[in-house]
Amino acid sequence: MSTATATRRTAVETHPSPEAAAVAAADAIESDLRAGRLRTLGVATGSSPSPLYRELARRGLDFSGVSLFALDEYLGLPHGHPQSYREVVAREVAGPLGIPLGAVHLPDGGDPAAYDRLIAAHGGIDRQILGMGRNGHIGFNEPGSPVDSRTRIVDLAASTREANARFFETPDDVPVQSVTQGIGTILDARRIVVLVSGREKAAAVAAAVNGPRTASMPASVLRDHADVTWYLDDDAAALLSTRDVPEVAS
Ligand code: F6R
Repeated sequence: MSTATATRRTAVETHPSPEAAAVAAADAIESDLRAGRLRTLGVATGSSPSPLYRELARRGLDFSGVSLFALDEYLGLPHGHPQSYREVVAREVAGPLGIPLGAVHLPDGGDPAAYDRLIAAHGGIDRQILGMGRNGHIGFNEPGSPVDSRTRIVDLAASTREANARFFETPDDVPVQSVTQGIGTILDARRIVVLVSGREKAAAVAAAVNGPRTASMPASVLRDHADVTWYLDDDAAALLSTRDVPEVAS
């Protein structure tokens, strides 16, 4: 069973496992899809959303009319590299959901600003799926990123490269830069789903949900948004003092 407490802007749900959190997030996405409210889906990569993509695929829903917009992409990987987000989104999201590759979009390091225009031309993002880094990053907006930032090239924090080394043969193979939707781009989405699991993210969750709204904790800025739901497992929620999210910076 889950518990949910909504404030005016943000809901925080906790679940016994990442899989249970994914089922709840999938319910919200399925409901959008069935109501015809899901034309554009923003997709994070990494471990956090994997159970959600698996759950959505298991339900056998018709995603054929939905366009996917990746949150970010590494720079410097050779075309077709299995860890490039183009490949990851194709393999873990588009393929399992039956979305044609022509409807899969990623930011391009050669012209980052074009991505914001492309999103706008598709009518904006209906649902944005996010994970969160241990340092509170969303997309690859590392601590200190401007809250009104748009899609742009960024340097990855050392801790982010370390965390993502598990996907590469050696830590040195992790790219040093990426092109990411900006925080402002993310906040433009109509609805936001954040999935976080694991004890190692508990401090960042507590800071983002209960702490001050500050650019040094990028996920704390999500409270500026009108419709955000956090789907946490019990480990990630372990340090929350309350599920009520302060609306104003302290
Ligand atoms: C991925 C992304 C990142 C991840 C975050 C958490 O597209 O933009 O913000 O969501 O680094 O990664 P995991 O889920 O692998 O712990």
